[in-house]
Amino acid sequence: MKPIVNIENLHFKYDEAEILKAIDLNVPQGSFLSILGPNGSGKTTLLKNICNLLHPHKGSIMIEDKEVERIKYKNLARVIAVVHQGTDVQFDFAVYDVVMMGRFPYLKRFQTEGKEDERIVKKAMEDTSTWELRDKSISEISGGERQRVLIARALTQQPKVLILDEPISHLDIKYQIEILDLCKTLNKEHNITVITTLHDINMASRYSDYIVLLEKGNIRKMDTPERVLTEENIEEVYGIKVDLIRRNENERPIIIPK
Ligand SMILES: Nc1ncnc2c1ncn2[C@@H]1O[C@H](COP(=O)(O)OP(=O)(O)OP(=O)(O)O)[C@@H](O)[C@H]1O
Ligand SMILES: [Mg+2]
Repeated sequence: MKPIVNIENLHFKYDEAEILKAIDLNVPQGSFLSILGPNGSGKTTLLKNICNLLHPHKGSIMIEDKEVERIKYKNLARVIAVVHQGTDVQFDFAVYDVVMMGRFPYLKRFQTEGKEDERIVKKAMEDTSTWELRDKSISEISGGERQRVLIARALTQQPKVLILDEPISHLDIKYQIEILDLCKTLNKEHNITVITTLHDINMASRYSDYIVLLEKGNIRKMDTPERVLTEENIEEVYGIKVDLIRRNENERPIIIPK
């Protein structure tokens, strides 16, 4: 399948320390890809390089055959939408207004939102079950609700790629499933490519088409969950011994620490 994001020989440093080393990564259009790896392995840094918030010192990142650094900010925001790690909205905005902010790449300078923007916002809020929250303040809703609102905002950008950094940390198991089910629906029914970091290996196994296993800034493996999630790979990257369980042939592997 055609890659929508294509990374070749990416190297990145903060000051002197090299954080990402010779990363090659093809993200097929329409796929659901999870990035796993220990704390500090470079997951967030990699996502920030993909969305042009950080710049590699070597190598290239192509989005739909165009070098990401050459894509104008608003044009990039029409292709890629990002939900950052632990996004905390400090101000007392109404949920509706927070979601409307996602329309910025489509507005000209000083232009205000019109009927079409309102229609898109309503649709995004219905798709994420946040329409009922529209008049509440963003600071007065639960963590799971906030995460859905931030995804709604991302959707109003009408992106082809949705990037999420730890979208389910701090959520209880019900919200975790709800958020990942929502991402899966957007992926399969709306054909949005999903790139997400996750700490929960079993959730990554359950939802992903592909998993990238990152270790100290190197890609250890990039393949299907069945091929990446082996006892050996997990022990090598996380330094723990696990049992691998499959309830039947058709189910994805589950890991249990020994
Ligand atoms: N702004 C920064 N300046 C200098 N070093 C940084 C900066 N941000 C992150 N780092 C370092 O880069 C490395 C990778 O960090 P990164 O945030 O990408 O890891 P991560 O895999 O997302 O970790 P986590 O699972 O904890 O979110 C870490 O060693 C971190 O200390
Ligand atoms: Mg991170």
